[in-house]
Amino acid sequence: MSKGDFLQKNWCQTDAERARRSLAKWYDSHARDLPWRLTPSLYGTWLSEIMLQQTRVDTGIPKWHLFQELFPSVEDLAQASEAEVMKAWEGLGYYRRARLLHQAAKVVVSKGGFPENREGWLALPGIGPYTSAAIASIGLGEAVAAVDGNVQRVMSRWGGVTDPVDSKTGAQAIQGVADAWLDAARPGDHNQAVMELGALVCSPKQPRCAECPVRFTCTSADNPDMWSVLPRKTPKRKAARWDLTWHVAHHGNQVVAIQRPDTGVWATLWAFPERAPSKSNTPSRPLIPDVVHALTHKRIHARMVGTAMTSTEELHTWAQEVNGVVMTWEECEAKAWPRLATKVWSELKAACMAGN
Ligand code: ADE
Repeated sequence: MSKGDFLQKNWCQTDAERARRSLAKWYDSHARDLPWRLTPSLYGTWLSEIMLQQTRVDTGIPKWHLFQELFPSVEDLAQASEAEVMKAWEGLGYYRRARLLHQAAKVVVSKGGFPENREGWLALPGIGPYTSAAIASIGLGEAVAAVDGNVQRVMSRWGGVTDPVDSKTGAQAIQGVADAWLDAARPGDHNQAVMELGALVCSPKQPRCAECPVRFTCTSADNPDMWSVLPRKTPKRKAARWDLTWHVAHHGNQVVAIQRPDTGVWATLWAFPERAPSKSNTPSRPLIPDVVHALTHKRIHARMVGTAMTSTEELHTWAQEVNGVVMTWEECEAKAWPRLATKVWSELKAACMAGN
């Protein structure tokens, strides 16, 4: 143990064991009836963990049911087209997760079944240290602690870890707490209990310390000077502004749409061209007020400009020029679009149909 570790540590193993027991008892009566918990399966657990990586449980539940309905098994998922998977994923954001999920399904089927340990899961596309630990503990009973952002919050507050959780020393300290807490006899329930504590009690803004089963051993209990600054993170660069214009060339019930490239922002999703139609008889003008939309590293200010084309032929000529496709609004709706589009879709469509 280095000097830094020693100074960092505000707890002892007995505290961790006490916290583990209190947490287990609390979880037995407070666990939510989440669908992937009711009839546990490796497939269902994997889907839930991928969906919940950057998505709230409330949003994840209907999508989890939809995936079970559309792709009841990993074989069904592997056989589906990428477009079908992306469409089913629409609304969850971070589409890379869906693409990697689909790739992983193909690998699983080609290997004849799901991996049998954490290491095997870690080798699949889209699976990192947290997800592999969550799946291996919940689905296979492997004794590993799963540490994600919510768990970092619980552990840093409980153990008084003041180093940034994304620094080497901070991450080690968090892992140390998580390993000391781990219930090796019930690792899946244990990891989900920590997640549940983070979701229901140790919330980011107003933790409910009075209701917390581990408050008697927690460094930050009832201490806003501690919990309000933990977990500490290395300051991030501000999201860069991106001024984006989408040109919606339309005629009747049809528009020109493009499929975005395989890499970069919104890879393979559908969008409107960023170039203005080179030739048209009517001036272009904004269809709706500018839309502000946040991505992880970008703050988009989007202008939706409409151009009423004079004929279907003109629409097709323009589509060829931008490598796009002429589609009806309904045909567009069957494809996967970024949230930026779906959140203003009906206004956009109405504005075009009104001849704007
Ligand atoms: N977040 C990620 N995995 C979860 C799970 N299994 N239960 C609740 N929240 C979660």
